[in-house]
Amino acid sequence: MTPGPMPSALSFELLGKCSVTKARAATLHLPHGPVPLPIFMPVATQASLKGLTPQQLEDQGCRLCLNNTYHLGLKPGQAALDAIGGAHKLQSWPHNLLTDSGGFQMVSLLKLAKVTEEGVRFLSPHDGSPMLLTPEHSISLQNSIGSDIIMQLDDVIATTSPDHARMNEAMERSVRWLDRCIQAHKYPERQNLFCIIQGGLDLDMRRDCTAQMVARDTPGIAIGGLSGGEAKDEYCKVVRTCTELLPEMKPRYVMGVGYPEDLVVSVALGADMFDCVWPTRTARFGNAITSAGVLNLRNAVYANDFGPIEQGCQCICCRSPAQGGLGITRAYIYHVTAKETAGAHLLTMHNVHYQLTLMRLVREAILEDRYPQFAKGFFSKLYAGKQ
Ligand code: GUN
Ligand code: ZN
Repeated sequence: MTPGPMPSALSFELLGKCSVTKARAATLHLPHGPVPLPIFMPVATQASLKGLTPQQLEDQGCRLCLNNTYHLGLKPGQAALDAIGGAHKLQSWPHNLLTDSGGFQMVSLLKLAKVTEEGVRFLSPHDGSPMLLTPEHSISLQNSIGSDIIMQLDDVIATTSPDHARMNEAMERSVRWLDRCIQAHKYPERQNLFCIIQGGLDLDMRRDCTAQMVARDTPGIAIGGLSGGEAKDEYCKVVRTCTELLPEMKPRYVMGVGYPEDLVVSVALGADMFDCVWPTRTARFGNAITSAGVLNLRNAVYANDFGPIEQGCQCICCRSPAQGGLGITRAYIYHVTAKETAGAHLLTMHNVHYQLTLMRLVREAILEDRYPQFAKGFFSKLYAGKQ
């Protein structure tokens, strides 16, 4: 059964297309304001980005970030979310939120999770009690959270799994679960439900899934099941195969992708939206993302390096006090990062700034139809740094 057309709480304004690659620049109008595409969305797992306040995230120019359904469903819990009036109010975030459905986190974090047709069964990490996350429950939680973009519950298998029959079952089940999510969704006029294409690395399965998902006519479309350690060429084939079959006038979100080089390549393949915990997580291990690659500032070579994290970076940490910044040096991060949260906090700001700036430059390059040159320059700087 294919339900009828779904109301949408977004509009997709296409602004420019690269004449060589499939890169697009657009503005996505969401209930809490417009967001520029392509976009990288930082992950604020528990209604707070680890290491940044919502105010700091806003000051960085972020207008769409992720929250985690499962974490919010446990704490503060659905009743509290309903009483508060949703996650925007909970964290005083006036901009857009996207929530993932929670099943993927269960399966990836808890090796004990088990998938049946009903939903994802797992033991609560808090008290070990058995729990069941169904498509209906995930949507009900996301309705209480009030996020601007909500994700369907999907059945996700590691792309590297050799079990073709299980992969096909997961793909077909994800389509059935999408229908249950559509039925359960109470507020399609103010929250946008995105489907998630599955099918592993099998391109025929991806084509089949894409056709079935597109027929459901959700406001946006995600490509899932990637970023699981598959080879880059296989990753690219999957993204290209899916984007070729997708409607031009809907946003396309590749889930769990955030390495700068993957962002630049995926945009060329026609993808618009990305999220990943990596930029913020790696900051807590002392890693700075720069245009010459990742620097580990816990390395003793930085002990006496009084330059900024990245020369020319306009983030608050790297800018000099004369430019209104903090004038943080690599040596400072080196000396505080192992023991102090301040180092992790500063690196988180720098890394989020890097990711958001990269996407701004990507967008400008597409709008000026010089994306291939931009990508070439990006990779030559990156590889120059690695020699
Ligand atoms: N995050 C990264 N990949 C996925 C996926 O395939 N499904 C969901 N729900 N979340 C993801
Ligand atoms: Zn910086």
